[in-house]
Amino acid sequence: MQETATDRVEKTLLTTGAGNAHGLDMSALFARHESDCYERYGRYSNEQLVRMLKMVGYDVGFCRDEGQYLYDRNGTRYLDLLSGFGVFAIGRNHPAVRAALTSVLDSDLPNLIQMDAPRLAAILAERLLKEVPYLDKVVFANSGGEAVEAAMKFARASTGRPDVIYCDHAFHGVSYGALSITDDESFRGGFGPFLPECMRIPFNDLSALENALQGGDVAAFIVEPIQGKGVNVPAADFLKGAADLCRRHGALFIADEIQTGLGRTGRFLAVEHWNVEPDIVLLSKTLSGGYIPVSAVLMRKQIFDKIFDRMDRAMVALSTFAENNLAMAAGIATLEVLAAERLAEKAARTGERLMRAFSAMRARYELVHEVRGKGLMIAIDFARPRSFDLRTEWDLIETAREGLFGQVITIPLFADHKILCQVAGTNSHAVKFLPPLTISESDCEWIIKSVEAVIAASHRVPGAAWSLARTLVSNYVRT
Ligand SMILES: Cc1ncc(COP(=O)(O)O)c(C=O)c1O
Repeated sequence: MQETATDRVEKTLLTTGAGNAHGLDMSALFARHESDCYERYGRYSNEQLVRMLKMVGYDVGFCRDEGQYLYDRNGTRYLDLLSGFGVFAIGRNHPAVRAALTSVLDSDLPNLIQMDAPRLAAILAERLLKEVPYLDKVVFANSGGEAVEAAMKFARASTGRPDVIYCDHAFHGVSYGALSITDDESFRGGFGPFLPECMRIPFNDLSALENALQGGDVAAFIVEPIQGKGVNVPAADFLKGAADLCRRHGALFIADEIQTGLGRTGRFLAVEHWNVEPDIVLLSKTLSGGYIPVSAVLMRKQIFDKIFDRMDRAMVALSTFAENNLAMAAGIATLEVLAAERLAEKAARTGERLMRAFSAMRARYELVHEVRGKGLMIAIDFARPRSFDLRTEWDLIETAREGLFGQVITIPLFADHKILCQVAGTNSHAVKFLPPLTISESDCEWIIKSVEAVIAASHRVPGAAWSLARTLVSNYVRT
C-alpha cells in the first residue's frame, strides 16, 4: 500500500519521539502536568473556580474515571452523583460508545460535507423518533443551550407570535435566548438586557398560564418537566393542563428534557409520567454518551415545515458542527446502551430505593424537610430546624449566606465518604443527586450509609459539622 503524507508525518513523529513533544499522547501530557494542574488552569482560565475548589477541598487531582467512579491522584475511589451535570447517565467511558467512536475514527467516513445528506444523522433522527412516535422531525445542535435557542426561534417563526412563557426557577442555559427564559439572578446578573417578550409565571400555576395565553401573542410555553434547579416535581395536573391550555390557545408546548430525558427519571421522557405529548422536545446531555457534545430538537412536521418551507431556505437553521459523525455515533451508541441495559427501568427501581431510604430519614432528623424527585434525579431538601441549639447554628450560617447549609452536607460527603454531589441551586437548601443510571446495589448502600452519617453529624451541636459551617462563614465573609 502506498504511503500517504499523513502516514509519513505520523511515522516521523513516532520514530523521533516528537509525537510526545507535540502533545499527541494526551495521557502522557495529562500525567506530566499533575503537580501544577490547578495553578495552570487558574492562571490561564478560571482562577475563581480554582480558589473555590481549594477552599472546599475538592482539589484532589482526579486522574481516571470509569462508570460511576472517579479516581484521584492517590488512587482513592469516589462515587460520582453529579455525573457531569447529567452527562454521564450511561456511566463514564462506556466501552460501547468508545467502540462506536473508535470505529468512526478508524474509518474514512465522509464527515461534514454540508452539501450532502449525513447518513448517521438520519439514522439517529429515525431512532430518536421511534421513541417519541408522535413527533416527526429532528434538528441537531451542539449543546443544550443551542437546542433551546432553536426551539425559541422555531416557535416564533412557526406561530408568527412573539411571546415565550417560562417558569419561576427555570434553568434553560446561559446563551442569550436561553438566559432570557432562565429565572436565576446568579446567572443573569450583569448580562442584561435580555430578549423581549419573555414572560415568567409561577411553576404549577395553570391560571397564570391561562391569563398569559389569553392575549393570543404567545408562541410557546417552555418547561422542564422536573426542574433541575431544586428538583421541583410538578403538581399532578400541571403539565397535562399546560399542554391542553397551549393547544386551546394556539401556542406550542416545549418540553426541555435536556436533563430529564433519555431514562433519567425512569421513563424515556419525563413527560411520560404525566401522559403529555409536547409539540417540541429538547434532548442533550445523556445523548452525548459522555463523549461528544450533541443536542436534538424533536418536533411536529407542521412546525418544521414552516421553517424549512422553500428550497432556498434549506439551510436556514443549521449549525456547522451539528451533524458531525462523532456526535451522531455517540448518540446512536448511547440509545443502544440505554435499551440493552434497560437503564430507564433500572433508574426507576434504584431511584425508588434511594427515595424510600431518604424519606425514612425525614422522620429521624428534623433538618430534613422534604425528599423529592423521580428515578435518579433526587433532592433532599433541608429547612430551619425547631430545636433551639440547631436553629441558632442554622441562623448563624444562613444569615451570612442563604443556602450555605447545603455545603455542610456536600463537603463531608466528599471529604469523608468520597461522594461527589452538589447543592441544587443558588440559595437552595436542597442537596441533589444525579448519578449515572448504572449505579449498583452496593453503590446504593454506600450512598444511604454516607448520607445518613452526614445528616446525623449535622444534628450534633456542638460538632464537626457546625465547626465546618463556621469556617465556611468566615471564608465567605473574607472573600
Ligand atoms: C434543563 C436544561 N436546559 C438547558 C441546559 C443548558 O444546556 P448546556 O449547558 O448544554 O447549554 C441545561 C444545562 O444544565 C439544563 O439542565
